[in-house]
Amino acid sequence: TRTLRIALLGAGSVGSQVANLLLTQADEFAERAGARLELAGIAVRDVDAPRDVELPRELLTTDAKSLIEGSDIVIELMGGIEPARTHILTALNSGADVVTGNKALLATHGAEIFDTADQLGASVSYEAAVAGAIPIIRPLRDSLAGDRVQRVFGIVNGSTNFILDSMDRQGLSASEAQRIATELGYLEADPTLDLGGYDAAQKAAIIASLAFHTQVAIEDVHREGIENVTAGMIEGARRAGYTIKLLAVAERLQEEGGEAISVRVYPALISREHPLASVHGGNNAVYVSAAAAGDLMFYGAGAGGLQTASAVLGDVVSAARRHIAGGVGVGESARQSLPTAPIGRI
Ligand code: HSE
Repeated sequence: TRTLRIALLGAGSVGSQVANLLLTQADEFAERAGARLELAGIAVRDVDAPRDVELPRELLTTDAKSLIEGSDIVIELMGGIEPARTHILTALNSGADVVTGNKALLATHGAEIFDTADQLGASVSYEAAVAGAIPIIRPLRDSLAGDRVQRVFGIVNGSTNFILDSMDRQGLSASEAQRIATELGYLEADPTLDLGGYDAAQKAAIIASLAFHTQVAIEDVHREGIENVTAGMIEGARRAGYTIKLLAVAERLQEEGGEAISVRVYPALISREHPLASVHGGNNAVYVSAAAAGDLMFYGAGAGGLQTASAVLGDVVSAARRHIAGGVGVGESARQSLPTAPIGRI
């Protein structure tokens, strides 16, 4: 059997689970991928930092560049813009396929990364970047490629959903709920990204880009976070038959002179009878309306190291199969440019 060298960049809550599964389920992966997936090394900032899962010390390195060179598949789970961007470009240029969960990077430098991959015939997969374990990238990119998506909306941030849900159902204060979300590892290292709606806006930009075959960046997304949502507001909403959820919406709008798209993230009142009101804890739910398919619903764990590792490893197996077949890049070059409209109706 062939062996593919896998480089992992980052060993945080998702990365450490990915490494552990690659090491402990190597035989299964070999069977499914058609090649042995050899974890060649794990690039980290600090080899002595505590990890969610214990990892073999000999695999840890601080030299990401050497690890990337000579790898067939590079898994980027460091997060942030730099050095992640440079590492991904280096990986593509050295002939590797890339798997990433980096929503911040794709929402800001997506065009550069996809264009580079297209030119080099390499692939960039990012199922883990949106809605954790839930398959939503591939359905939008592949399964619905023959349809016309009209609207995508739902809950794409697990930590704020956990916080709002705990406030609603357990009567917790915002700070108490946030403390527990932090303990569960749901929040980003910088919690402002979650609480301020930036994480959801990054995901909304990625979703809208795929759904509408265009390039939507984070600046195009109208964004409001949950910082101003108080226990009193949630209690008031509850008495009136509503709950409060952080919604992400991306939709096509027919406007005078043509079509535009609107992408927005904001805390919304949701009727307790609406299925979104039953999305509890760190779960996510995404609704997709397409012209031919009608309404589709995707639901599951939107955050968490092990859950998100599932999405990463699915991409790794696909990338391995593609790598062996000598396939060409999936390609995002069909993207055109559609104007974005600041805010529309829901
Ligand atoms: N902080 C993110 C969330 C992690 O709460 O959804 C998963 O992307």
